[in-house]
Amino acid sequence: MACDFSLGMLQAGARKPATRVSFAAGDALALPFRNEAFDAVTISFGLRNVADADAALAEMLRVTRPGGRLVICEFGHLPGRRLNALYERYLAAALPLVARRLSGHAEAYNYLAESIAAWPAQPELARRIGAAGWRAVRWRNLTMGVVAVHTARRPGPSPDAGTTERDTRAPQGPRS
Ligand SMILES: C[S@@+](CC[C@H](N)C(=O)[O-])C[C@H]1O[C@@H](n2cnc3c(N)ncnc32)[C@H](O)[C@@H]1O
Repeated sequence: MACDFSLGMLQAGARKPATRVSFAAGDALALPFRNEAFDAVTISFGLRNVADADAALAEMLRVTRPGGRLVICEFGHLPGRRLNALYERYLAAALPLVARRLSGHAEAYNYLAESIAAWPAQPELARRIGAAGWRAVRWRNLTMGVVAVHTARRPGPSPDAGTTERDTRAPQGPRS
């Protein structure tokens, strides 16, 4: 079940060939789903764009069954102040220039650079995920943290064979 409040985005998704996904128009801050409806929820390059990320994290918790999983894919920050400052300079200056030539939507890339700079670094996002009620919060950096994948579980028995809350995968984070 894919959810977005942009009908254009939903239509673009529905045009994908042979998709088995259903589509729902809905606000991430008031999802149109019952409590504990899903085994897992995931949001990709979306949480940074919602008006209230903490409310969205709480809303995703509400619709996930106890023991269910959260996976967030989002831009992140690079390790070390100097490297990250360099990267932010690239985002703010070079990226809009390239985008203006290639896409004609330079403003969108200005927003991208600004929203990434304002977005919390990976440890702070992990803290906020936990504060929303999620547990076993971890993250994995991709390309040195340009993108980070955070995972967590809703407290409660695991949906897998009614066993335990323990995460049996290799430990992932916090580390690069
Ligand atoms: C950068 S796009 C990412 C879309 C898709 N996940 C992808 O990776 O292609 C961000 C999306 O978040 C959606 N969005 C922002 N705030 C939202 C909200 N409160 N409720 C639902 N969708 C929202 C926008 O409509 C937009 O489609």
